[in-house]
Amino acid sequence: MEPFNLRPREVFEELCKGVVGQDDAIREIAVAIVKHLVGHPAPNILLIGNSGSGKTTLMRAVEQFLSSRPDLFEYANLVRINANVLAEERQGYGRSVLGRLYSNAKRIFGPDAPEEVLLHSVGRGMIFIDEVDKIRAEVRGQPNVRGIVAQEALLTLMENENVEFEVDDKTHSVNSSKVLFVAGGAFEELYENVFRRATIGQDVAPMKPVVVVSASGEVREELPFHLRDYLKYEDLFRYGMTPQFVSRFESIIVLNDLSEPDLAKIFVEPDGSIFRTSRAYFQQFGIDLQITRGALIAIAWDAARQKRLGARALRETFRRVIRNLEFDPAASGAAIITIDENMVKQAITGREAGTAGRR
Ligand SMILES: Nc1ncnc2c1ncn2[C@@H]1O[C@H](COP(=O)(O)OP(=O)(O)OP(=O)(O)O)[C@@H](O)[C@H]1O
Ligand SMILES: [Mg+2]
Repeated sequence: MEPFNLRPREVFEELCKGVVGQDDAIREIAVAIVKHLVGHPAPNILLIGNSGSGKTTLMRAVEQFLSSRPDLFEYANLVRINANVLAEERQGYGRSVLGRLYSNAKRIFGPDAPEEVLLHSVGRGMIFIDEVDKIRAEVRGQPNVRGIVAQEALLTLMENENVEFEVDDKTHSVNSSKVLFVAGGAFEELYENVFRRATIGQDVAPMKPVVVVSASGEVREELPFHLRDYLKYEDLFRYGMTPQFVSRFESIIVLNDLSEPDLAKIFVEPDGSIFRTSRAYFQQFGIDLQITRGALIAIAWDAARQKRLGARALRETFRRVIRNLEFDPAASGAAIITIDENMVKQAITGREAGTAGRR
């Protein structure tokens, strides 16, 4: 029996409002969340994606969605942590994460709720672990003690048996087999490692380059390499994630690298997007900030060529365009300021010429 009426499609559509270009990942997460909330077994999910592709944004979006729905309140016991903290915990073994789920349960059901209600909520909690690639057991052939400790901590949590944890000097025990784990990380060298295996390895047919034309008309040859097509569990072991740990993630999702149209959309559309935030700033001075389509395409194009930054590159590009205007918004006396393609091009040229776009 479903305790409430929630469909994966509805979750998907909500999450898509804040997360762009990652439909496959969002779909999979939406199904897992609904399964988990209604009490079906849900797969633990590992998100792999380049820096700035939206892993943290997606985790935050799920958290926000769940907390925005009063009808899910009792079911949505979630903590989001950075994997690094697991290596630092004095209590060890990540048990204080369960302590946090327990505190959440108290907030949800009230401090006087019966013990079994609180523990039931902990056992049905969700644990989101960000930056999980930072806890490698081995880095460049050398053992990484912090990583080993943190992976062990997580393993203990995922053990599925009764895991003990302490709150206010009292020891509790909970079966974690129904806790949903979603982990995410950039796994930086993984891409190169798998690419090398795929292009010079013997087990794969050689790739043929394909010609790509970008939105701005630039033509280049690329190898049609998508990490998700070639990734094997072994690649993750070699990266320094222990087999016991990785094998507990039944679903491994590789996020897309964001395209120029995705970047343009991210720049303007989501609540709190860079452009919306900037517009709000100018509104304070009674100025309506506008942007032309050409300017938007140029910003997305410039951001896309800054490899390894993903959507974070948008911020740097836009800063160059906007900073002089921000200093004295009312200087021109105009009620509308329109950012056009020329302004963006000037800013980009400024960077290349080392004048940093200052006039
Ligand atoms: N797919 C996306 N949809 C919407 N916004 C995005 C997306 N990807 C990135 N962004 C924007 O870029 C910024 C950085 O993204 P995010 O923090 O999600 O990256 P990440 O994948 O977690 O990277 P890292 O591996 O470096 O932690 C966010 O503030 C967000 O505004
Ligand atoms: Mg992140």
